[in-house]
Amino acid sequence: MAPMGIRLSPLGVAVFCLLGVGVIYHLYAGVISSRLAAFRQRRKVDLRDLLAVSVEAAVLGGKEVKKVREENGLKEKSKGKTKEGANELLTLGDLQSHRKMYNLIRNTFPDVVVNSEEHDDLVDKAATWSRDIPADILDKIEGGRNVPAESITVWIDPLDATQEYTENLVKYVTTMVCVAVEGKPVIGVIHQPFTGSTAWAFVGQGSNMHARSSYSISPPNVIVSRSHSGKVKNFIHDAFGNSTTITAAGGAGYKVLSLLETPARETGSIDQADVYIHITFIKKWDICAGAALLNALGGHMTTLKGENIDYSGEPLNKGGLVASVGVDHKAIVEKLPSWDPEKH
Ligand SMILES: *[C@@H]1O[C@H](CO)[C@@H](O)[C@H](O)[C@H]1NC(C)=O
Repeated sequence: MAPMGIRLSPLGVAVFCLLGVGVIYHLYAGVISSRLAAFRQRRKVDLRDLLAVSVEAAVLGGKEVKKVREENGLKEKSKGKTKEGANELLTLGDLQSHRKMYNLIRNTFPDVVVNSEEHDDLVDKAATWSRDIPADILDKIEGGRNVPAESITVWIDPLDATQEYTENLVKYVTTMVCVAVEGKPVIGVIHQPFTGSTAWAFVGQGSNMHARSSYSISPPNVIVSRSHSGKVKNFIHDAFGNSTTITAAGGAGYKVLSLLETPARETGSIDQADVYIHITFIKKWDICAGAALLNALGGHMTTLKGENIDYSGEPLNKGGLVASVGVDHKAIVEKLPSWDPEKH
């Protein structure tokens, strides 16, 4: 009698084994990745350390910006045009500064998302934090405010006001770092490479800057972009009357500084404005640090409709901008004529 048996074809066995391996791999990969996610979730970042790193990054980036300008080696090229047709420039200053700032922050806090205005594949493992916390930060800010790494989005602008940088209008140039926690701006650093001063703030904790003791709002002195069309002038005259003073300046970082008290040694080197308005699209790395500084000093930076801006996700803010400190922000927003930045 022939034995009862199952004939196994070699091909069938091979397919079966492959399927088995596939299933096991699938299950196992799932376990590994969920373990990793759980591990990452437990990673905490001390925000005072992150503030100190942000200051160091802005200062180091600023040194590059200054060096390239002084060596006259800008090597500028166009990145394309903005929606309003202004040329968007990239110089060696932007790039070198980006490399320093981005690598320093990424190497120190590898679990934190860092969004920079510039991109570059150069990885510089040597950029490490000195672990020095400046005395004025130690003085004003308590350590130990830990937040999960994945709740943080860092925005860096390695060179704000590139157009003015190429024109050698260096007072407008800044390097900026902003730390948003769950989309809210919490830490802001605005460094001026050509004066050497650094403004920093940690919302709810402290700042080395102050609001001025008084502001005018009827009418205010309104600071706007140098590269804007005439439309912003009509917008502002509509809002506050035809006698409103309009100051045109480069750089979003600089414009926020113009709302604050100017340190004595810089008297005359920064314009003094009461309100900052922008009526077209603007990127979050341009404005997040200023938003944190203003918030820390009791001020506000919102869209033209008065809405808060979320500093996570997409880099483009499409709602325009109105920023103030030491005044009734809501009253200013209410004066603004209706305007849709998406249509301009
Ligand atoms: C302001 O100027 C515009 C045009 O220049 C004019 O149409 C408008 O009537 C002026 N508004 C006031 C309140 O004077």
